[in-house]
Amino acid sequence: MIDSPQRLAVIVGSVRDGRLGPTVATWFAGQAAARPDLDVDVIDLADVPIGAAAPSMSAPEPVLRALGELTARLAAADAFVVVTPEYNHSYPAALKNAIDWHNQQFHAKPVAFVSYGGISGGLRAVEHLRAVFAELHAVTTRDTVSFHGVWECFDGSGQPKDPVGPAAAAKTLLDQVTWWARILREARATTPTPHEEKGVIMMGLTGKTALVTGASRGIGRAIATRLAREGARVAVHYGSDHAAAKDTVATIEAAGGVAFSVQAKLGAPGDAEALWAGFDAHADGLDILVNNAGILGDQTEIDGVTREGFEHLFAVNTTAPFFITQQAVPRLRDSGRIITVGTMLTRGAAMPRAIDYAMSKAALDVLTTALAKQLGPRGITVNIVAPGVIDTDMHQGRLVGDALAWLSSQTPLGRLGTPQDVAGTVAFLACDDSRYITGHRLDVSGGTTI
Ligand SMILES: Cc1cc2nc3c(=O)[nH]c(=O)nc-3n(C[C@H](O)[C@H](O)[C@H](O)COP(=O)(O)O)c2cc1C
Repeated sequence: MIDSPQRLAVIVGSVRDGRLGPTVATWFAGQAAARPDLDVDVIDLADVPIGAAAPSMSAPEPVLRALGELTARLAAADAFVVVTPEYNHSYPAALKNAIDWHNQQFHAKPVAFVSYGGISGGLRAVEHLRAVFAELHAVTTRDTVSFHGVWECFDGSGQPKDPVGPAAAAKTLLDQVTWWARILREARATTPTPHEEKGVIMMGLTGKTALVTGASRGIGRAIATRLAREGARVAVHYGSDHAAAKDTVATIEAAGGVAFSVQAKLGAPGDAEALWAGFDAHADGLDILVNNAGILGDQTEIDGVTREGFEHLFAVNTTAPFFITQQAVPRLRDSGRIITVGTMLTRGAAMPRAIDYAMSKAALDVLTTALAKQLGPRGITVNIVAPGVIDTDMHQGRLVGDALAWLSSQTPLGRLGTPQDVAGTVAFLACDDSRYITGHRLDVSGGTTI
């Protein structure tokens, strides 16, 4: 059983001028904060400027950014208490809008209610909210705190004039919500929800902007489509295959996501500048950088490596991601992510025919650890994934017959990797669940190196 305090998000649902919501919420948050088993985060929707912007990934940039912070706070919560008034027998539109922008952040978590209003005490708003949260796989607790004729309930210092009844109701509510929070946190950690079993793991990247280099094909395309499926708006970088990039963007959009393409040929001076100029034309900040673009080189042992081939390989695989990352840093928002696609060949698996390729990627292992140390204070994590042999067109049809059988036999899992295998790992490193992992090299080789 996980014993650390539960994180309780207290959501203030009313946003109108002159509202009583903060009075009610501040009193309740004080009751909750007095308990050692709770960390309380008061989320006042009046501070989240999404207004009436309805759920859509093409919402304006400031809306998406404000939403990103809200999303992270909801995702971090183990339980929720919604403080809601009653407006015309229901609850405020701002609350509905904030809920509708989200989904998985509420899954398998308890939601309790503190309501207030006129004669109803807000209980009709609560009944409507119960139906909404059932749709989001949340559990609502039975007991509530409610204030009838709320205008008369609080004194000038914000305390209930009759403190005993509300405090007793708050204790009952908190006992229920903390029990559910503890049980469900354990369950979420150990037992996949039905959604996860179906392979749709929602990471909650709504409101985030990602850039994936080399995203028109192969691993990069899989990463771009996966991040978009998790809700991120994705910049699809490509070098020259405009049609393939267009297809990646179209695939993302057809699935309901948002993407735009950015062209920049990597491997020559000015490449990073061109890439970021293209990006800046569409977005005013970055949350996730994925350095994926790379080439294999001539695939020869040391005696066959030419000076020209070696320098081009390093220009694309090492110099380009270095300067792309350098110029990403000022654009990255706090708590952002830098994820690089390296290779298993830098550690644990040596391949003489990939000597120059592995050397060019080894530099990115170092980029990862050094930057992780520098950017940690901003909450930015920097990690590298180390794929094994992944079945993409970069191998130009060589992964067939005996070669395929032999390579597959080298992995305990008995098969080559797929672009989706790498994309799933990158999505994990992009999401909030990986927030305490940085400077890490994550092997995605199906165990080839063990
Ligand atoms: C537009 C509107 C509709 C309301 N409808 C109801 C209602 O149907 N039932 C009720 O008990 N109180 C109703 N009230 C009273 C509110 O619940 C009360 O004013 C409460 O303080 C509003 O919360 P707020 O001050 O945080 O906005 C309504 C108030 C407003 C502004």
